[in-house]
Order: sequence, then C-alpha cells, then structure tokens
Amino acid sequence: MKVLLIGATGNLGLRLVASLLTHNHSVVAYVRSSTKLESLLPESVFRQITVVQGNATDAAAIKRAILDAGCDAVVNTAGVAAVAPWAKTDLPVIFRAVVDGVREAGEERKRPLRVWFLAGLGVLHYPGSEVMLSSYMPIFLAHRTNHALLASLPPNTLNWSMLCPSTMTPEAADMTVPTPPSKSGKLIASATTPPAWQDSGMNAGRYDTTLEQNAEFIAGDLAGGEASQWSGKAVGVISEGK
Ligand SMILES: NC(=O)c1ccc[n+]([C@@H]2O[C@H](COP(=O)([O-])OP(=O)(O)OC[C@H]3O[C@@H](n4cnc5c(N)ncnc54)[C@H](OP(=O)(O)O)[C@@H]3O)[C@@H](O)[C@H]2O)c1
Repeated sequence: MKVLLIGATGNLGLRLVASLLTHNHSVVAYVRSSTKLESLLPESVFRQITVVQGNATDAAAIKRAILDAGCDAVVNTAGVAAVAPWAKTDLPVIFRAVVDGVREAGEERKRPLRVWFLAGLGVLHYPGSEVMLSSYMPIFLAHRTNHALLASLPPNTLNWSMLCPSTMTPEAADMTVPTPPSKSGKLIASATTPPAWQDSGMNAGRYDTTLEQNAEFIAGDLAGGEASQWSGKAVGVISEGK
C-alpha cells in the first residue's frame, strides 16, 4: 500500500519506516522537519521514502498530503499521551486533526482509507467486562478520548484500527531494511481485551513489547490490503510465549 506515516521521526515512527519498506509498502513520511528525519535514518533508507513537511494539527494539510501522493493507508504515531490525568498533552488535538484530514480525503476519493492509530493498554477492557483497564488505573487518559472519537464515527468513514501496546522499548538504535526478525518473537494480538490475560499482581509487565515488534505488526497487517480482521477494533498485543 502507499502509506502516509505521520510522526515518522518518533521512536515508533522510525521503526515503522523500516518495517513498512520491508513489507514493500511505499512510504510518504509526514513530519515537521525533513532535516530531522534525514538525520535519524541511514541514507540508504531515507532515499527510499518521500517526505512531506507539515504539522499533525493541520487537517487540511494531511488531507492534501494523502490526495497529492495517492495514499491508500495512514499510520499515525504523532503526539504523546501524558501519564497523569491532569497533565497537558496536544495528542487529542492532533488525533482529531488526523481523523478529520483522513476522513475528508476518503470522502473526496470516495473510499475510506485504512488507518492505524496508537493508544495504550488502558483502552482495552478487563476480560469479560465492558470496563476499560484505565478505569482501574487512570493514566494516559487521552487515549480514551481518542477511542471515543473513533467509536462515534458513522460507518464507512474510516477503516480504522487502534493498536494498544503497553510500554515499548527499542531492540536496536539503527534502522535497517530489510528489518531482521525481532529478538523478542512475534506478537499475539486480540481485539478489545488484552491477549493471554492473567489475574495476578505481576500481570502488567507481561505486556511490555518492543518498538520493532509493533512496527512489524502494523506493517504486516497493511500487507493484507484494506481488509483486516482488526478493522474497527482496539487491539491488544503480547509477545508470544509470555
Ligand atoms: N513509547 C511507548 O512505550 C508507548 C506505549 C504505548 C503507547 N504509546 C503511544 O504511541 C505513540 C508513539 O509513541 P512514540 O514513543 O513513538 O512517541 P515519540 O517518540 O515521542 O514520537 C512522537 C512523534 O510525534 C511527532 N509530533 C508531535 N507533535 C507533532 C505535531 N504537532 N506535528 C507533527 N508531528 C508531531 C514528533 O515529531 P517531532 O520529531 O517533530 O517532535 C514525533 O515524531 C504515542 O501516541 C504514544 O502515546 C507509546
């Protein structure tokens, strides 16, 4: 697919550049600074992508970037949720602008785009209930606001999925294409609730994954085209074997 990657200079965004290229997607990186992105990627990788400079709060610019490049998918990793409920974050503003830009681009090309958004573990439900985990531990609450926005959209406006990892750490500092297999193995995923949940006090740490695993998961899903088992779902992930 031709993928607009918003937030390509970030921890996950950089790994997504490498994973998307490895899965033979075309990458259009939407970033505030092309110079910054160039400084963070090996020259051989930077040469393989197209860069559009813009702000993720600018819905009209996002729409234009999608339509000008002929993108059929979007991944948004821009903006970071604040930990404390009272702390400020511009993530909801960014998130709404991305939703609006992508939705309007879909209306203009008369087909909704496939989009992956990022959230966190707290958006997932405690198994067997309708209660989000963030109701028990109210942190990173911007993701809840963002999920509510997606859930309120009329059908057939966005073909969205929301990846809900816990902490993601890097496996390597350098980005190579093709990407090597993850040292932590593949991710196992489930919709709405965390996969392989255990009711024990030490459960949360089991959901730590790596940036590379999550980048591979999104890039691999997009390799299947517009149809995905994760469409319209919040998706939990865990490393196989945990
Ligand atoms: N890292 C984790 O452990 C973790 C776990 C669960 C969920 N998440 C979520 O996953 C997402 C990605 O995390 P990350 O660790 O990759 O974050 P990150 O490294 O802080 O990257 C954030 C990206 O957002 C971009 N950005 C911020 N404001 C922007 C704006 N107005 N216009 C355009 N770009 C903007 C930054 O670009 P600049 O380079 O221009 O600043 C950067 O590329 C976040 O939403 C985070 O909440 C992260």
